Amino acid sequence: MPIPRLSTIRLPGKKKSLEKPEKNIKPDSSASNSDFRQPLIEMRDIYKVYKTNAGEFTALKGINADFYPGQFVSIIGKSGSGKSTLLNMITGIDRPSAGKIQIGDTYLQNLTENQFSEWRGKNLGIVFQFFQLLPMLSLLENIILPMDFCQMFTPPEREARARELLEMVGLGDYMDKLPTAVSGGQVQCAAIARALANDPPIIVADEPTGNLDSKTAEMVLNLIDELVMKGKTVLVVTHDEAVARHASRTLVICDGELVDEDISKTLPHISHRSMLMLANQSVDFTRNHGEELFSRESEIPGLVIVIDGDLDIRNSDGRKSGRIKTGSVLSNRYLRNTISNGKVLVGGSRKPARLKVLSNNNLQIIVNQSRSFRAFIEEMEANGTIFKDNELESSI
Ligand SMILES: Nc1ncnc2c1ncn2[C@@H]1O[C@H](COP(=O)(O)OP(=O)(O)OP(=O)(O)O)[C@@H](O)[C@H]1O
Ligand SMILES: [Mg+2]
Repeated sequence: MPIPRLSTIRLPGKKKSLEKPEKNIKPDSSASNSDFRQPLIEMRDIYKVYKTNAGEFTALKGINADFYPGQFVSIIGKSGSGKSTLLNMITGIDRPSAGKIQIGDTYLQNLTENQFSEWRGKNLGIVFQFFQLLPMLSLLENIILPMDFCQMFTPPEREARARELLEMVGLGDYMDKLPTAVSGGQVQCAAIARALANDPPIIVADEPTGNLDSKTAEMVLNLIDELVMKGKTVLVVTHDEAVARHASRTLVICDGELVDEDISKTLPHISHRSMLMLANQSVDFTRNHGEELFSRESEIPGLVIVIDGDLDIRNSDGRKSGRIKTGSVLSNRYLRNTISNGKVLVGGSRKPARLKVLSNNNLQIIVNQSRSFRAFIEEMEANGTIFKDNELESSI
């Protein structure tokens, strides 16, 4: 079958090597969301309102997020929480009702549909759950197609590059087969090769392993890991915990809102709705080195989460008797016990301790509304302990 040529858009042809890292884009080594580098993708106050027969439905409620070059970010959330809608804002499959998205130097809201598809062809590789290859074209032809569309490479380069990409995803022996003649996992690997055809700096994938058995899913994940190592920025929407484990960063979306990442990282086991309530009801505090957390018993809050930095535990004579590290959650009973034993909690030595504090009232509100959070608090309070690294620590 001849390779179809789509030459509707004339763009300057530019040869890029498969191995060559993107200009200005370096792999992420920190996995941190408080990165000092310039974000590659900035989403600001994104709303998406759908008009339905039953009235308006707000699927995204003020999304703010930054994604950095070379990050592998997974976006998780229950069905209907807004994951696909969020990705569609970036791919332009759907447009925000309000808000701004900047990717590199491009302001997506300013692009016409034609400009968007041209930009998308060069900058985004898109992978879906249902593989979306054209069934009447061979795997090789499917990979060449987006290169024809964007004309980033000369025609002979396109075929050589498509072969190289299919080899890379382990499909060297299947290039001339139709998608229907290979396995689902192989089609998904081919879809990843196709997403890489124009060497885009960003790969977005919506449930890329959703339709695969666990072994094939692992293969696809390893492929994504390799892309990240080569400096690509990867955003993956998923229900699959294995995907989230591979990612350098996981965002939780619940009812169209992104959950504060500090909360979801510290308390990954509570329900997404509880995370959201906790984030919305807690108050941020900082304590500098040596500064007391609270001086009177009446000030003791319902819950303290150490988001960043350490707290020191000091005896009444001022000597240090212990340290509470980043990520710890302190129950009200633990805090009371510490004070009644004549100890004080102060900002630790490294840097100002950043805390999220929940008042007793707000703690009760969430406890009354969330079973998963209530179970967690009851266990902590019963033991009078702190929670750290997903474990209750019995003695501090
Ligand atoms: N075109 C549309 N018109 C009306 N409502 C929509 C439309 N697209 C999505 N929604 C609604 O927006 C919400 C978010 O949908 P979305 O597809 O983003 O969820 P999701 O998190 O990707 O779910 P899943 O895990 O099932 O794929 C859902 O309640 C959905 O019904
Ligand atoms: Mg979806």
